[in-house]
Amino acid sequence: METFAQQADTRHAIDFASLYVPPRIEGEFTGKHILSVEQFSRQDLRILFDASASLKKRSRQHDRGLTEICSGKIMATLFFEASTRTDMSFQAAMRRLGGEVVGASNGVRFSSVYKGENLADTVRAAGCYADVIVLRHPEVASSLEAAWYLDKLEVKIGRRPVLIGGGDGIGEHPSQALLDLFTILDQKGSIDGLQITMVGDLRHGRTVHSLAKLVARLKGKGVTVNCVSPPSLRMPAEVMDQMQEGQIPVVETDDLDEVLGNSEVIYWTRVQEERFAERADYDAIQDGFIMTPELLQRARKDAILMHPLPRKHEMGPPESHDILDEDPRSIYFQQMENGMFVRMALLAKVLRGVYV
Ligand code: NCD
Repeated sequence: METFAQQADTRHAIDFASLYVPPRIEGEFTGKHILSVEQFSRQDLRILFDASASLKKRSRQHDRGLTEICSGKIMATLFFEASTRTDMSFQAAMRRLGGEVVGASNGVRFSSVYKGENLADTVRAAGCYADVIVLRHPEVASSLEAAWYLDKLEVKIGRRPVLIGGGDGIGEHPSQALLDLFTILDQKGSIDGLQITMVGDLRHGRTVHSLAKLVARLKGKGVTVNCVSPPSLRMPAEVMDQMQEGQIPVVETDDLDEVLGNSEVIYWTRVQEERFAERADYDAIQDGFIMTPELLQRARKDAILMHPLPRKHEMGPPESHDILDEDPRSIYFQQMENGMFVRMALLAKVLRGVYV
């Protein structure tokens, strides 16, 4: 299936990746775009995760006060790529906080994008109507481009809507990495001393790019990151460099057995079929790493198995999914639910800056 970017050249020629530096959070979330995990310090993560844990607890207690947090605020969703979890969890998060959600009635494909409108204009249209916009787009740095234009919109309308990146091609997926790290900390207490093993399509997987960068920023004591992939799907150099800067020892291998037995966190990923230019290249490696109940038997008793989902054959056939799901070490459903709480915290923080 062709992406929008392939169908029409609606992108600007400006290199937004070099032009736009996402603002550091530095303890102040209000009004800040969330575009990259590089914006977060250890302290910012602590603030966000405290808020996420508090919102999780309050949601469980059906605290009615939650709906006051984003009351009167509107979130727009602009999803130029398929999504279930990111889209629905952001919508649910906003509604649980008492905010409203708008989106093009028949999906962004049937918005003016269909008529050839470019990203800069579509995002500013959403900005005229909403306080916060969640954007997913197939192009790397598209969220930076969107943020750039929303900053310009401020001059015209006297307020600046916030952009939250929901995945920019093979670039970043900051809110996913935040929920992944929150889940690891929730399960393990700390990342100190953990071996975190990321498996599969590390080249195209934006969730592992953001998670690896986030682990590098946290600089846990004695953390090792194992990157397991076919040679053609290795972690990009830019991400490896950040782990090196964070002094995180990294083991890069195509042999899972080398690291499986020592891994406390096993982060499985899908081979990103839609990112391959040649079908033959995908076919050649698609069966490289399949998680099966037999394989999980060989993992540590205290390991956790994570997956950003959706899953396909990399977790075996559906019968195999069911067996894997029964294993208490499989925590991808908790991971998924945590996504909503972390996104509630992000929305509360960027829209209101409130302590929750
Ligand atoms: C991921 C994504 O879109 O990057 N999904 C998600 O947001 N939970 C992972 C994937 O599509 O494989």
